[in-house]
This record gives sequence, C-alpha cells and structure tokens, in this order.
Amino acid sequence: MGVSGCGKTTIARELSNRLDIPFYDADSYHPQENIDKMSSGTPLNDQDRASWLEILSSNLQEWEAVNGAVLACSALKEKYRKILSRNLKNIQWVYLDGSYDLIMDRINKRTGHYMSGKLLKSQFQALEIPQYGIHVDIAQSPVEIVDQIKSDMESKKSEFGVFGLGVMGSSISLNVADKGYRLSVYNRADGGEADVVDNFLSENSEYKNIYGFTELKAFIDSLSRPRKILIMIKAGPTVDLVLNQLFPLLEEGDIVIDGGNSHYLNTKKRFDLAREFGIEFIGAGISGGEEGARKGPSIMPGGSAESYGQVSDILESIAAKDDFGKTCCAYIGPEGSGHFIKMVHNGIEYVEMQLLAEIYALLSKQMDYQEMASLFKNWNSGKAYSYLLDITITILEKKEGDVYLLDLILDRAGNKGTGSWSSKAAFDLGIPNTMMSSAVFARYISSFKEARVKMALKLETKEKSTANIDLKSLEQAYHFGRLINHQQGFKLMESASNSFNWNLNFSEIARIWSDGCIIKSYLMNELHEEFKSEQDLIQMNSVFEALRKTEQSVKHVLAVALDNRVSMHCLTASYHYWIDMTSARLSANLIQAQRDFFGAHTYQRTDSPESEYFHTNWL
Ligand code: 6PG
Repeated sequence: MGVSGCGKTTIARELSNRLDIPFYDADSYHPQENIDKMSSGTPLNDQDRASWLEILSSNLQEWEAVNGAVLACSALKEKYRKILSRNLKNIQWVYLDGSYDLIMDRINKRTGHYMSGKLLKSQFQALEIPQYGIHVDIAQSPVEIVDQIKSDMESKKSEFGVFGLGVMGSSISLNVADKGYRLSVYNRADGGEADVVDNFLSENSEYKNIYGFTELKAFIDSLSRPRKILIMIKAGPTVDLVLNQLFPLLEEGDIVIDGGNSHYLNTKKRFDLAREFGIEFIGAGISGGEEGARKGPSIMPGGSAESYGQVSDILESIAAKDDFGKTCCAYIGPEGSGHFIKMVHNGIEYVEMQLLAEIYALLSKQMDYQEMASLFKNWNSGKAYSYLLDITITILEKKEGDVYLLDLILDRAGNKGTGSWSSKAAFDLGIPNTMMSSAVFARYISSFKEARVKMALKLETKEKSTANIDLKSLEQAYHFGRLINHQQGFKLMESASNSFNWNLNFSEIARIWSDGCIIKSYLMNELHEEFKSEQDLIQMNSVFEALRKTEQSVKHVLAVALDNRVSMHCLTASYHYWIDMTSARLSANLIQAQRDFFGAHTYQRTDSPESEYFHTNWL
C-alpha cells in the first residue's frame, strides 16, 4: 500500500513473481463511477470507496483460502485497512514510503493512467501511515525493494508452528504465544472442523502473534527456517498420514515434533523416515492434560541432541517449573526414548490411580465421602502429596444436587492403551512390572460390567458395611504401594536404557516429573535427590527403611480388604514384589525342576557354579 504513484503495481508484480502467488491490482476493482470521478480530478470520499473495499475484502478472503496473493492497493486510511483485514487469518502490510516530490516527479512522467498529479495532494492528506507492517523506502530500485520486503517477511515469519488445534494443541499454542513467540497454527478445515481455526483466532483475538492457517503450504511458508512444527494430534495411524503430507513439503534441517502419546517403536520408525528427507524428528512426551498444556506441562523430548538444541528455548519456556524454578523439560535421549518414558509415566499414573481407587473402595466400608476427603487432605498436606491425590479429594466432594457425582459414574474404566504398552514393554524387556499390569487388568475387569452384575446376583454375598481399618496403617500401606510402583517404573526405564543405549538420567527424569505432569508428587522431589547417588530405588536407604517398617501395615490392610471382599490388585502386587525381592530363596527351584522334567530345559544347582547346567532323568 501507498499513495498512488508510489510504484506499488510494479513492486507488487515483482513480489508476486518472487513469492509465486498471484498478483491483483485493487485499482481494477473500482466501479466505473469511481474511475470517472478520479479521471475528472475529483478525489474519492469514504462513501465512494465503501463498495470497492467490500469487494476487495471478499476477494481477499477467497485468495487467502488458496495460499494467498499480493494485492496492490492505496488503503490510505486505517479504517480502510481494517475493512480489508476483516476475516483474514493473515495479512502482511507493506507500506511503500516516499516523499511528495519524488512521487509527483514519477506521476508527471507516466501516461495513460486516470490518476493525475492533482490528486496526489489529497492522497497525502488522507494518508494515515500504518504503525505496523513492513516499511520500505521507494527511492530504492524495485528489485532492492522486493529484496527488502522478502527479507523483512522472512524475519517476521513465525518462529514456531502448531499442527492440530484440539484441546491440547490449542492450549499449548496459547502457552507458546504467551511467551512472546510468533506462532502459526494449522488445522484442517474439512469435515466437522471447518471453523476450528477461525474460532480459535476469534476466541483469542487479543493475541497479535498468532497466525492461523487451513492450507498446509501456506502454514509451512509462514514459518522461518529451520521450521519448527509441533504436531498435536491423536496418536496412531493419523500421525503417519500427516507426516506423509508434511515431509515432502519441508526442507532439510526442518524439525518436526510429535507431542502426542505415540508408541516409542513408531517414533523410532518415524525418526528413520524423517532422516530420509533430511528432517529432524523429535518424539516428545507431554504430560499435564489441558491445564498443564496451557500453564506449563512436563515435556520429555527424545531425538537427536542437536535438533533438541534448536527447539529447547521454546519447549523449556512453555514447560512447568520445578520447586527451584528450573524448567520441567529436559532432553531425554535418542529416537523413541522420550515417548518411552512418557509411556512409563502413564503406567505409573495408572497404578497411582488404581491404588487410590483401592483405598477408596476399602474406606467406603467405614466412612462417607466427606470424611474420606478430610482424611486425604490430611495425607496430602504432608509427604504423601500428589496431584492425583489432590484431584481425588475434589472428586470425592463433588455433588450434583444432593447426590455425590462419584455415585452416578458408571464403574467401567476406559483406557487409551499406554498402560498396556508399558506392561507389554516390561514383558519384552523381562522386567517384573506387576503393578502396572495389575492396574491395566483391573480396568479390563471393570469393563465386564454386565457379567459382574449377573455373577454378583448369583453369589448373593451380603456385603459388610463396616470395616475396621487402622488409618495410620492405611496411609503407610499407600506409601508402600507408591514406592514399589515407582521402583517398578524406574526399573523398566533402566532396562530400556541399557538395552537401547539411551543413557537415561533418572534424577533428571524424576525432576521433570516433579511438576507439570499427572504423576507430580512430593516423592518425585525426593527421588530427584536420591537418584543422584543410587540408581536402584529400592536400594536407597530411605526407601528400603520405609518399606521395611511398613510391611506390617500392608499386611493389615490386605487382610481387612480380603475380609471385606475388596480387591486390591495393585497393593497386593506391591506386597508380593517386596516379599520376593527380599527373599533369599523362592520356589522357582520347583519351576526349574518341572521344566527340566517335561522339556529337558536343564537347571543350575546350588552346589555347582552357575555356569554349569544339569539335566536329570526324572523317571
Ligand atoms: C498426561 C496423561 C495423558 C492422558 C492419558 C490417559 O500425562 O497428561 O497421561 O496423556 O490423560 O493418556 O490415558 P488413559 O485414557 O489410557 O487413561
């Protein structure tokens, strides 16, 4: 934009060639009466320009929907520019700045244009110079001007892109924008998602640093190089569909981050595929749900350390902060390691939830929800603090009218798979991850609602309505279960780290889980310190002593639970793990004998070196 005669047509044409998008001249959209008026030397007034601006506005929207265009337009007043910007997701203003004398000189030299030098004065009077956009001095040559525009456009490009504006994508986008980054967001506009981008932009119109796109190429073009794109879509095959669209449009060195709960082996495959395109792929576990994404999640990025270095500023600025103000985002390791530890995070999450559910079931025998909430508040104010305990208190107290909402919720637990992935990984790596698999199976059992109801009727057991649980013991048993849960989770990560050469840092992992994520807890702070000197959680003096001292309490709780027919999948598993891990001799000698009996699988002997294997003819 600029006054007539500033050279905007020439420059806009050149720019359109260089950007490879169409050129339009706003002058050719004037109705005949405006052209006649201007040709007769009479300046246009606001009323004359109204219909012209409306035509341009609707055309601009159409052009934007097909990757954009360059429009040469006088757009002298701010209110004209407002009309033209209306309903556009992105508009880049370029103001061609030149003196009256220079432009008058140029106008006098040109022929065949309806605009004469006489109108220039009125144009300058009407001109309200924009306080934004790219300003270029028209004393330069057109090529120099376009070079400057292009380089200014490049420097004004978005520093970060978010692909997918679901709940998590939208929240994380606002979090990035809050930190002052120029941000491009993309969402498809087909199916039921036609208005997703428009709605997001209008609901957050106070953000001037967010640019929305529904065209993939325009989204990619809006990003400065190397492009940094965070994909926030549902994990699964859709991720591959999106990457297959994205990779060919990107350039070497661009960085794509998958922020969903993808399976770590898929992340490894995608990492290798990206490499073929010269693209850097980061699989980042992100935890904290909607609120975390908005205010500060815990972020677990895996990929090459160099590519992480290029996005660390942004990721670390949006992450939660730990108790010492350090960011809850740290480079985890290569390939799928970030998604692996997010998967284990979720496995630990399953157990933490299940332990609380077991305690809730048992306590229901002797207290109401209000009393239970008070008890949990007491626990939560000390070392047992955790986010999941905290939300459980709120859940217990929630009422709909006179009824507790919890009593209206069907007892059938859902899952999206990460808990079972953790269990499968544990099976593959040979790690006794009994609590996680118990928590997954507990959810599965709950899903057989109809069968359960039928069998319950058949059994006609009279439920006891009172139990006599010692509350101190219960608190200790809860702590016991949590310690073993974390032991099993960290052992699983240790095994993966050794098998895949990931060199995981458990103290750092505990630290970035101390805030922002769903399993944040006071315990995580303690583990952050303890892991600095001891890699095996159960061997940590404080942990071992706590487990040793509370064994009796667990026994008491399990006995009361059994007596009341309250299943305790996870607490039982934790207790059995403890017994076995602290037993010098187990019954596995019998298993070995049986294996050797029917399959000649051989066994080792207590009276011979472990390197020797024996077979017995048992009959
Ligand atoms: C998180 C959560 C999050 C999600 C789980 C729930 O860290 O923010 O873990 O990722 O809530 O995927 O999984 P289920 O639906 O399997 O319980």
